[in-house]
Amino acid sequence: MSTNNKKITKIYLILVMAFTFVIALLSLSPALNAASLSMEDSDVENSASFSTDTIYQIVTDRFFDGDPSNNPTGDIFDKSNNRKYHGGDWAGITQKINDGYLTNMGISAIWISSPVENITTIDPSNNSAAYHGYWAKDFYRTNSFFGSVQDFKTMIDTAHDADIKVVIDFAPNHTSTAEYGSMVFPEDGRLYKDGQLIGGFKNDTAGIFNHEEWTDFSTWENGIYHSMYGLADLNQMNGTVDTYLKDSINLWLDYGVDGIRVDAVKHMPMGWQSNWLSSIYSHKPVFVFGEWFNGGTGSDPEMDCFANESGMSLLDFRFANAVRNALGTKTMSMQEFYDVVVATETGYKEINDQVTFIDNHDMSRFMTLANNNSSSVDMAYVVQMTSSGIPTIYYGSEQYAKGASDPDNRGDMPSFNTNSKAYKIISKLAPMRKTNPAAAYGKTVERWVNSDVLVYERTFGNSVVYTAVNRSTTKGYDITGALTALPNGTYSDVLQGLCGGGNLTVKNGEIGSYYLGAGQSAVWQYTATNESAPEIGNIDPLMGVAGNTVTITGCGFGTTKGIVSFGTKNANVVSWSDSCIKVTVPSMTAGYYNIKVTTSAGLSVSNYAKYKVLTAEQVAVRFIAKNATTDYGQNVYIVGNCLELGNWDAEKAVGPFFNSTGSIAIYPNWFFDVSVPAGQEIEFKFIKKDAAGNVVWEGGTNHVYTTPTGTTGEVSVYFYN
Ligand code: NOJ
Ligand code: NOJ
Ligand code: CA
Ligand code: CA
Repeated sequence: MSTNNKKITKIYLILVMAFTFVIALLSLSPALNAASLSMEDSDVENSASFSTDTIYQIVTDRFFDGDPSNNPTGDIFDKSNNRKYHGGDWAGITQKINDGYLTNMGISAIWISSPVENITTIDPSNNSAAYHGYWAKDFYRTNSFFGSVQDFKTMIDTAHDADIKVVIDFAPNHTSTAEYGSMVFPEDGRLYKDGQLIGGFKNDTAGIFNHEEWTDFSTWENGIYHSMYGLADLNQMNGTVDTYLKDSINLWLDYGVDGIRVDAVKHMPMGWQSNWLSSIYSHKPVFVFGEWFNGGTGSDPEMDCFANESGMSLLDFRFANAVRNALGTKTMSMQEFYDVVVATETGYKEINDQVTFIDNHDMSRFMTLANNNSSSVDMAYVVQMTSSGIPTIYYGSEQYAKGASDPDNRGDMPSFNTNSKAYKIISKLAPMRKTNPAAAYGKTVERWVNSDVLVYERTFGNSVVYTAVNRSTTKGYDITGALTALPNGTYSDVLQGLCGGGNLTVKNGEIGSYYLGAGQSAVWQYTATNESAPEIGNIDPLMGVAGNTVTITGCGFGTTKGIVSFGTKNANVVSWSDSCIKVTVPSMTAGYYNIKVTTSAGLSVSNYAKYKVLTAEQVAVRFIAKNATTDYGQNVYIVGNCLELGNWDAEKAVGPFFNSTGSIAIYPNWFFDVSVPAGQEIEFKFIKKDAAGNVVWEGGTNHVYTTPTGTTGEVSVYFYN
């Protein structure tokens, strides 16, 4: 063989080897597919649904200082002052993940302070530094006192390796304070994009901010377009701001973030937020929950509407206030507490997607609320961890930290004591939320109740979680004979007697002899394996466009791929496991659809909350109806020829419109910011409607408007009488 031939043979061999290698790789990919097919609802890769998770809320600056070299210098740093920076950072969180403090507690998600660059000066209105993260300056850069982009990514990778999801706080309502009496604010609320100035509050010719002075919190409208305590209020309907906020959140999602806690959602137009969410969900299906501050336990129609229609979940303030009243101040009976639980389970489309808490950085620590009675904290955690909704533990409260109000309720982490009783309680119940689907998705039924005692059961499929609490410090109760769905048998307390619980025997749907002593609580559970019938727990997100990924969680789906349909159309299945299915939304007419899961064995189940297929990608448009005079009790709404405008159904018209914002519209002019399909010619009319539903249609022909693509629009027309 000539040398030349040898060379050719060699090349040929290399080619053959390369080819074989590629084939080998290709043949490996079905195996990879099989691996992804086995994703469970409890896996960290499931960033759409958090129902099996326990979230730990961290005020980043106050948790752990893992890198003193990034601490600020000068007057914004003072460890003895709770209004100044204390040095906590992402390196500190990374260390606490690595040393097991969070994982041994069963924590599977952290919610950290807003990671974006904040102002670095003292806010003179309250002599405070931006340690809390709510005074943004540049949403495209990190708060360097928390760390660099690399530190952030390291924290995320470390968290994911430990099966912990990462949620960031995000505050798109405002930047920093710009108006407060005659005070001077050196940063003037300025907004930057990766260092480049977008605009400041004064001489705001580009309309980056709303300029309506302070809100008096009197109406929803007033709270949206006016500033909160002088914080420079971003005008999300401005195209530059809209694009800025969509692109900046995508940047953080691309770093690996799994969820978003949106600050002050009550203070931004709902239509803008829905459009922002649809952009997020098309980019990455993550779990989003908003803060709609509410001080009560009753329903609030605007809040409930937001929870059910905006596209994001809410922090469940009703639950928090009820648990605080029942177990903190004891101003509400356990029966009344249960009534709130039932009311929220019916009021929210997806109760298991709402996020519960017993305290947070804006209210007194539970320990302080309960007069320093640590047993009340323990019992509140038992109730929260076994109730519907995704529990959030506020950092430090598991160590019985105290503090009546901001900033004392945001002190340094008191200790990392893994022998704290509350820590142990959480570490027993959090893993149960991962493995028992009744804890994640079950509906609540009361089994024994009086003003002190609540025995309740949550069931899903054949799984059961049974909880008994007695808040009385003096009186025990005999609960023998209480009903239950637990199968016959003897059950040991999941809390292993930490709160006085013992074994529970069950026979034919009743519990055997059981005395629930003063101050005791106990949890018993049964996890069904190999459910034959499918049950849907959640669908996340609950809205989107064709091609978006939707995650369906629950139990009994089987391990062999079956069928998922939206109405009559089958969806493409991306992955399938017994507790988690991922599909892509089929292309279909916009509307609300039942999602049906049919197992390979032919058993099927439909969801209770309908999935909203949007007409197309969304843009936010401000509709202004000029000179629409109304009779007392009438309001203006918009209705039109697409789903987002109610498909000409006056009952589904969007509104009521606003009419009291000086810079936009004052009666008889009305306006509303609405999420509508992008780049489409739409027809619409305004209607006048009263509380009884009586409708007066606008006369004349339909208004016609072509919606913009990419960013916000505005259309202003006279009302035809
Ligand atoms: C609600 C946050 O939780 C609170 O701490 C903050 O000060 C305000 N929103 C303004 O961002
Ligand atoms: C019903 C309304 O009455 C009318 O004004 C409108 O033009 C049509 N729908 C459009 O189909
Ligand atoms: Ca530090
Ligand atoms: Ca606002």
